[in-house]
Amino acid sequence: MCEDLFKIYKIADLEVVALRGLDLRVNRGEVVAIVGASGSGKSTLLTILAGYDNPSAGKIVVGDKDLLRMTVRQMEEYRRSEVGFIWQQTSRNLFPYLTAVENVELPMMLTNRSDRRKRALELLELVGLVERANHTHERLSGGEQQRVAIAVALANQPPLLLADEPTGELDDSTASEILDLFGSINQEMGTTILIVTHDRDIAFKVGRVVMIKDGKMATEIRRKTSFQSISSKADTAALLEEFALVDTMGRIQVPRDLLDKLNINERARLSIENGSVVLKPDDKSS
Ligand SMILES: Nc1ncnc2c1ncn2[C@@H]1O[C@H](COP(=O)(O)OP(=O)(O)O)[C@@H](O)[C@H]1O
Ligand SMILES: [Mg+2]
Repeated sequence: MCEDLFKIYKIADLEVVALRGLDLRVNRGEVVAIVGASGSGKSTLLTILAGYDNPSAGKIVVGDKDLLRMTVRQMEEYRRSEVGFIWQQTSRNLFPYLTAVENVELPMMLTNRSDRRKRALELLELVGLVERANHTHERLSGGEQQRVAIAVALANQPPLLLADEPTGELDDSTASEILDLFGSINQEMGTTILIVTHDRDIAFKVGRVVMIKDGKMATEIRRKTSFQSISSKADTAALLEEFALVDTMGRIQVPRDLLDKLNINERARLSIENGSVVLKPDDKSS
């Protein structure tokens, strides 16, 4: 999906490297959570995947589409029909003067669907809000607004759903309901879902969690048991396995605290012992 992705923002003379050689591969129909501290590049990655911005370097393919080899027109089409996007700010997802059902119809107007109202109501039914169809956003709670936002994102049946901290402004129980909703959408429609969050507890709810650190994927947590998409019931940690990620260039991030413990600074000795790669401090230094 993404290979060796770089994004450099330039503000006046200042350069900010938001993504530095990021790799990410997601299977069709998978639910993946991306977790990382603030400023680690999560939103940058999602806006690039959504086609709102271009990377500075690297490769990015979604389905059979190479996002860097698309014309402006194809890109518009991609944003409209291939991805659904949900922002953290509940208010940013909806047009304030429109009712819930009108908001869901809007993306379908751009693709000229004829049965808009019927489909919009079906989607509101799916997210459990059909009885609020005629409410505008100020009459909806934060959780309800995110449900409508999910229906809007699904309007044109995109195979990929991207959500940038969709539960960031919600209380715990509402957040958990929204995560469950993503789970049932994944199961019913087979939609591939990427959820960005800084809530590490999500690890217990999705099949796979990738940890982003300084613009690069660092570690990954997977379930030991067979793949499950999402569930509100937090499973025990015993079922989870954590892996360090090796990128296409063979790079691996060793956590700073581990290096500190071993007193490793600039150099380390790498060797293979009994089928394991061993990382040792350079005994000649210090
Ligand atoms: N439009 C922008 N212009 C300049 N710098 C940006 C812009 N967007 C993000 N950044 C910088 O890129 C880095 C990653 O940001 P972001 O992707 O928003 O991280 P996250 O979503 O994980 O908090 C940060 O250092 C941020 O300040
Ligand atoms: Mg962000």
